Formats: sequence, C-alpha cells, structure tokens
Amino acid sequence: MKVLEINGQKELSGTIRVSGAKNACVALIPAAVLADGEVTICNVPELTDTDALCEILESLNVSVKRASETILINPKDAKNVEIDEESAKKLRASYYFMGALLGKYKKVEMCFPGGCSIGRRPINLHLKGFEALGAKVTMKGNKYIVEAEHLKGDRIYLDVASVGATINIMLAAVKAEGVTTIDNAAKEPEIVNVATFLNDMGAKITGAGTSTIKIVGVEKLNGCFHEVIPDRIEAGTYVIAGALCGNRLKIDNIIPEHIDSLLSKLEEVGVNLEVGSDYVVVSKSEHYKPTIIKTAVYPGFPTDLQQPISVLLTQCEGKSKVIETIYENRFMHIAYLNQLGSDISINNQTATILGKTKLKGTNVVATDLRAGAAMVLAGLLAEGITTITNVEHILRGYENIVEKLKNVGAKIESKEI
Ligand code: EPU
Repeated sequence: MKVLEINGQKELSGTIRVSGAKNACVALIPAAVLADGEVTICNVPELTDTDALCEILESLNVSVKRASETILINPKDAKNVEIDEESAKKLRASYYFMGALLGKYKKVEMCFPGGCSIGRRPINLHLKGFEALGAKVTMKGNKYIVEAEHLKGDRIYLDVASVGATINIMLAAVKAEGVTTIDNAAKEPEIVNVATFLNDMGAKITGAGTSTIKIVGVEKLNGCFHEVIPDRIEAGTYVIAGALCGNRLKIDNIIPEHIDSLLSKLEEVGVNLEVGSDYVVVSKSEHYKPTIIKTAVYPGFPTDLQQPISVLLTQCEGKSKVIETIYENRFMHIAYLNQLGSDISINNQTATILGKTKLKGTNVVATDLRAGAAMVLAGLLAEGITTITNVEHILRGYENIVEKLKNVGAKIESKEI
C-alpha cells in the first residue's frame, strides 16, 4: 500500500510551479475526439485521471502520443465502440465522452461515471441537454444508451449551473444543426478553456464565461494546437500551504484572477500576500482572524478549496465557519482533522471550527481528492509524523506533489508499506 509520510512544521520557501488544470484537461482530452485531424494539447499534467482518459481514447482506436506535458491526439481512425465499465468508473470525467461521442457519431453507450464520493452527483442535466438536442436516452442494465437520428440546436436552461452539464452540452452541440443556447451555464475558467479549444478546432461558441453560451453548429472540426490553463485549485492549495508554513513561498505560473475569492479571504484572515501578474508570494503570519466561508459556483469560493482552507481555519483565533452549498458529503476530512487535534463540529452543511488549535501528527485517510489535499496541508503544519493512506485519490489531481513540496523544504515521502 502506498502512503505519504510527512514530518511537519518545516518552513516552505522557494518556488512551486503550478501545472495545467486537471478539470480542464479531463474535458479537453475527450473533446479531442470531435476533431477530424490531429490535436496537440500542451501543459497537460501527468495524473492518473488524464492517463485514464487517454486509455479510453485508445480503446476507441484514437492514436495518442505523449511527450512529457504535451499530448498528440489523432482521431482519424476512431471507432465508436462502447466504453467499458471499468474505465468509465475510474473517474468522473469519463462522462465527457457522452457529449463528445454523441456530437460526433450521434450515438454513445457507457455506464454512470466514477469519481470522488462527495455527494449524489446525478447527471440528469447532462441528459436533459442531450434530449433537448434531439437524443433519446435509454437504460440497459446500468448502461446509458444515448442516440439521435439528427441533433438540432435548442434553448436549454440548466436548473443548476453545472460545470459538467455545461461542457457536455457544448460537446454535443458543436456539430448540431442550428443554434444551441445554454442558459444558467456554469462560468468556471475550465469552461472558457474548453470553448476556446473547440473554437480553435473551428466551432462557433460565444459567451463562455458568462451565464449564456451560444453555439452555432458547424459541419467539420479540424485539428488544432491548444494550451491548458494553470490549475486554479492546485494553485490555491499551495497558496494555503504558504499561509500555513511559508516564508516567501512563490506559487508561480498561475492566473491570480482565477483564485480571487481565495485571495480575498486570505487577506481578510490576515495572510501576508504579494500578488503579481502570474504568481503569488505568501508567508505565514503568527495571528489569523476567524472568518466565514460559503462555497458557491465561480466566481464564488470554490467547493474544491473548501477542504484545504479548513486546515488554515484551525489556525485562526476564534470561531470560523465553512458552509458547503455544492455537495452533500464534502466534510469527510473533518474527522481526520479532529484526530490531528482540531476542534471542528459539523451541523448539516456547516462546519464550525474553533481555533487556534495545535495539530499533532497521526495516521489519517485521504477519503477523496481534496480531503487528501487537506490531509497533506495538515501534515505540513502538524508536529511530528502524519501518515496518509488512500493516496491514490491525491495522485488523481496533484501532479508531482511530493517533489513539488520537497523542493520548497517539506519533509514528505511517498512510501510502500
Ligand atoms: N448536478 C445535478 N445534476 C447534474 C449535474 C450536476 O444536480 O446533472 C449538481 C451536482 O450534484 C452538484 C452541483 O450540481 O451538487 C454541481 O455539480 P457540477 O456538475 O458543477 O460538478 P461536476 O461537473 O461533477 C466539476 C469538477 C469538480 C468540481 C465541480 C464544481 C470535474 C471533473 N469535476 O464537477 O471537481 O467540484 O465541477 O466546481 O471537472 C475536484 O476536482 O475535486 C472536483 C470534485
């Protein structure tokens, strides 16, 4: 079994370079199937999630070549075969093959995707969008069969501004006849990145990044060259690490506007920040003020940083609250933080954190990806050794996390036990 072992309380200084955004790549890789020529995507992080999607591409007879952080995808000989259950269940983002294959072949067969167990995470809005475009959705056992004789643009209102549904509907609609409008679309930077990618291929998408996206269908999509945006959640996680243990820790290659909600919260609690055009320098302060954080869709405070920031809130002097509004089950890290010495109680969707508490290393579990990131941050802060199990969750979303943290002074090892 692989574990991460952290000997905490080491000062972090130097530079951490942030990788390409996982949640953009996991949509760009399936989206590449829509092209008729070769697609080059650079700044792709080496993560188990991106590897899993490349394996699905290969199962569809798509040629995939990887050279470090660049992937060349050529779907010219692609075959629309059923995606096997094991591959689909490896990650959430396998569902982007639904939109991409429906858009390209008008038919897709696959089962419900996997991903972190942080809530119910239904896909009803994705399916509602496909149906609005003219597709029929049927279930055969645990498999969805989505097919259409003809895809035709329509006006689609999303009851929830879902990232996955917005991207999936864009993928299904790029080659549909006529105009598709998505109202109450999600506005996350990853959506803008996917829309730019599709436009680079020849799609006609406007409004990405606002709550109304318009897609004018085109007949053909070409190959293209595309660069993935920096990962705002990875960036935010390391900025929080700097607030906990940093001495002029530089988080580089980021788009600071993408983490505005985090940076303004950090300033409010008293974190020492220097924000540049593509970096943040962060140092630890002795005294932090408590605050209230409520997660929201972009540009609100991201649910993906709620678990990491709860570690910082254990160091604030007084009562802080975290209100999780996106997922029903995203507090699994709290029990482990309390084992490390924090004082946190949960009432429905609100966690109340009493600080400041001293954390002391022990054995903890990464119950999901961002819970795992929270455990790493807690381990960096805690006195003594913290051992984290279920680290495969962390490796799904943080490229070279051990090397990146070691390079700035952390004592962290990946071990087989
Ligand atoms: N929802 C529905 N019906 C749907 C789709 C979503 O009710 O058809 C609900 C969900 O249950 C949830 C809310 O809408 O309560 C938001 O879900 P959304 O669809 O926006 O999330 P997602 O696309 O499944 C992506 C990221 C998540 C991130 C969320 C929110 C990927 C692969 N995942 O998930 O990332 O938390 O957007 O920003 O892009 C992570 O990286 O750790 C992670 C979980």
